[in-house]
Amino acid sequence: MKKLFAILLAILPVLLYAQDMPTPQWRPVYHFTPVKNWTNDPNGLIYINGVYHLYYQHNPFENKWGHMSWGHATSRDLLHWQHLPVAIPEKEGKDTTTWIFSGSAVLDVTNTSGFGKNAIVAIYTADQPKQKKESQFIAYSNDGGLTYTNYAGNPVIDIQRPDFRDPSVIRVGDKWVMTVAVPDDRKVQFYGSADLKKWELLSEFSKQGDNRKIWECPSLTPLYVDGDPAKKKWLLMVSSGNQDAATGMQYFTGDFDGKTFKNDNPADVQLFVDYGRTFYAAIPYNNLPDNRQTMLGWLMPFETGTYPWRGQMSIPRDLMLKTTPSGIRLYQQPAAVLNASLDKLPAAKKVFKKNVTVSDELTLKGINSNSYWIDATFTPGTATDFGFIVAGEKIGYDVAGKNLYISRSNLGVVSGEKIRIQLLFDKSSLEVFVNGGELVYTTLLFPGKDDTGISIYADKGNVKVDSLRVWDLGK
Ligand code: FRU
Repeated sequence: MKKLFAILLAILPVLLYAQDMPTPQWRPVYHFTPVKNWTNDPNGLIYINGVYHLYYQHNPFENKWGHMSWGHATSRDLLHWQHLPVAIPEKEGKDTTTWIFSGSAVLDVTNTSGFGKNAIVAIYTADQPKQKKESQFIAYSNDGGLTYTNYAGNPVIDIQRPDFRDPSVIRVGDKWVMTVAVPDDRKVQFYGSADLKKWELLSEFSKQGDNRKIWECPSLTPLYVDGDPAKKKWLLMVSSGNQDAATGMQYFTGDFDGKTFKNDNPADVQLFVDYGRTFYAAIPYNNLPDNRQTMLGWLMPFETGTYPWRGQMSIPRDLMLKTTPSGIRLYQQPAAVLNASLDKLPAAKKVFKKNVTVSDELTLKGINSNSYWIDATFTPGTATDFGFIVAGEKIGYDVAGKNLYISRSNLGVVSGEKIRIQLLFDKSSLEVFVNGGELVYTTLLFPGKDDTGISIYADKGNVKVDSLRVWDLGK
């Protein structure tokens, strides 16, 4: 025992040092990270006058979870972010500490709240650990979202529970509708309000889909199925347990009549937003034009540390509902605004190929930055498997099993005459969209110094690459 203690004492400085070793090689180029310190969930996503605001769960002082506050950044293209001061800081009182947990923001165009015309109102969970309480607070900004004043009448909803969080507010007709989680009960509640201050419970939705883990960060979003305005449906997303993984997000599709959400599917049907265990706590942007619905999620860092920041956001993803043989399903695509700007990036080195047959391995020359955006369509040939090798990892398709896999662990079944793979690898995050976003898989990878480059492989035969486009975004 004594010996063990001595060993531990001896290696402690090494462990501590390793924790604080800068890791610039893993800092993403085109995904959001805070300049320094911890981030988790995106909060208060709102688009105003051409500017995308991103608030985020942030510890301003340390590179680990704690002192929760709303960090703030803005962008005009969802690619380049301007870092701004903390917008809503934690509050340290004599008897009460208030942490600013997740929530949303709305633009109060007609001054329903009395906080001013075009005030931005943030609706968030006040987590008060000493009181073992979570309740919903509001705060308003009259300076375009830079600073917020807490409403004197807080809390606006308090149901006397230690777990009651993550309000997501949208405008439905002439009222505000909040979707909020009661995590331990695997339940979401819907509330309605005329002024963002007085809230009335409308209904509850619980114990459907995947109930193995607590429910957090819900959101309710209207979408046109197949883009047809005559076919409106509602997407209810919840962050919770995913298959055998530690975390994940599930979704439901259904109808919402302004009060109650009615699931399209039987209660035991489980549908997942992402097949990895990294993508979590995603919420859609409020106030986007043209019925666009775009979400951002948090890529949860597990074992491997990065320094001086920890945690990153996903690529912004457009949400779509499509009719499939199994019913209405969620499809995701990297936001169209990003796709459109790819070719305009001056430093992006491009590789475009058409109609090449690959047997064995084809290495793409001169692309070593570990920060790329790949879009490829394959027609299966005689190969049993084909796909990409990125930073030493195989991301491929098993033709007979119709399975997408990463390093031999199966992710899910996709089928079709052709397989389209969009692969976004950015230093330490990997997002894979298959067949236009029918299946999405996200993970974190922490490649070693020599793990660079991209190749296409085909095992025991060949595959036809109908088209391949690679943008090297490492600059
Ligand atoms: C999800 C979550 C939320 C909570 C926040 C606290 O990751 O647990 O439920 O509001 O993080 O940081």
